[in-house]
Amino acid sequence: MAPRPTPADKFSFGLWTVGWQARDPFGDATRPELDAVEAVHRLAELGAYGITFHDDDLLPFGANAATRDAHLTRFRRALDETGMVVPMVTSNLFTHPVFKDGGFTSNDRDARRYALRKALRAVDLAAELGAGTFVLWGGREGAEYDLAKDVRAALDRYREAVDLLCQYVVAQGYELRFAIEPKPNEPRGDILLPTVGHALAFIATLARPELVGLNPEVGHEQMAGLNFVHGIAQALWQGKLFHLDLNGQRGVKYDQDLVFGHGDLLNAFALVDLLENGGPGGGPAYDGPRHFDYKPSRTEDRTGVWASAEANMRTYLLLKERAAAFRADPEVTAALAMSRVDELTTPTLAPGETHAGLRADRTAFEEYDVTAAGARGYHFVRLNQLAVEHLLGAR
Ligand code: GCO
Ligand code: MN
Ligand code: MN
Repeated sequence: MAPRPTPADKFSFGLWTVGWQARDPFGDATRPELDAVEAVHRLAELGAYGITFHDDDLLPFGANAATRDAHLTRFRRALDETGMVVPMVTSNLFTHPVFKDGGFTSNDRDARRYALRKALRAVDLAAELGAGTFVLWGGREGAEYDLAKDVRAALDRYREAVDLLCQYVVAQGYELRFAIEPKPNEPRGDILLPTVGHALAFIATLARPELVGLNPEVGHEQMAGLNFVHGIAQALWQGKLFHLDLNGQRGVKYDQDLVFGHGDLLNAFALVDLLENGGPGGGPAYDGPRHFDYKPSRTEDRTGVWASAEANMRTYLLLKERAAAFRADPEVTAALAMSRVDELTTPTLAPGETHAGLRADRTAFEEYDVTAAGARGYHFVRLNQLAVEHLLGAR
């Protein structure tokens, strides 16, 4: 029996995920439009606590004030009726043709000014709905041709934009932080800030780095051939895991946005273990929303959409259960000790020791038996096999 999701699990979904009509570059939509109000109700029934959206998912691009108000009123009513919250809002700076060369980093200055105005409006909306995070996914910030984009100037403009957004949030007194979502490519041939590492380095150059963190997505790091768990661990280590996009991806190819766990399941297991058990004292290392950014496959009908939404949460909870069992297993404790995993938390130098102390310590070098140390096994495979067996429910 899979555990049932409850609001305490903090599961959230993008309106654009369950609402995706499955139009792709090769084929038409396979599903009808989904009303935002229905999405809120269905997700609440399934046990989610939150819904997120791009400005244009909720308020049609270019809509007048009356239309915007009407949509917002209906949506707010659905939130009130269900108790659902909006933990994150973002701005769509990629669909309209005006953004074909990017929003904040378009070569066209007027397009950049327009993008900033649109983003500021979405920031107001986020604050109004009580969101704590504003995601910046720069899907169109990039290029296909190296000579067509001055990357250093583009990064200057990117920084200018993010600095302005931070300035605005501070001036308005909003309790809102920004989370950059890296992605290596698609829709652009190459996207700026392609990985967690690039984004972290960029954040360090900002005027208010404390207001800006990350929204890493499982599939995006994997599209770059990188290990998502390592990326998340570094984001946590730097205090920058503000939000995250959970989904599945099978290798270096187009952005699949599969259900969480339907890609690299073992990596998903390690991820849930890190998020849930990797904090001080073995508690959660992350307490933000468990946000799913997946696409119900094009083959699925309406029923399949809700089954896939549920699948994300069930998989997460099952992995959480398996990770708890893994951590509680005495054989795992023994295997971790054999692998000396904990030893890495001991500083390499003794308290107060300097290079002089290290150089004077003959046991560290002259008397160190390198041959014996080199011959000793770490037993990592055994540890990994225990993880596989817990994952398979064999323990
Ligand atoms: C993608 C991205 C987007 C963003 C979303 C929020 O690859 O399509 O993951 O889904 O997460 O636009 O900004
Ligand atoms: Mn994606
Ligand atoms: Mn995403």
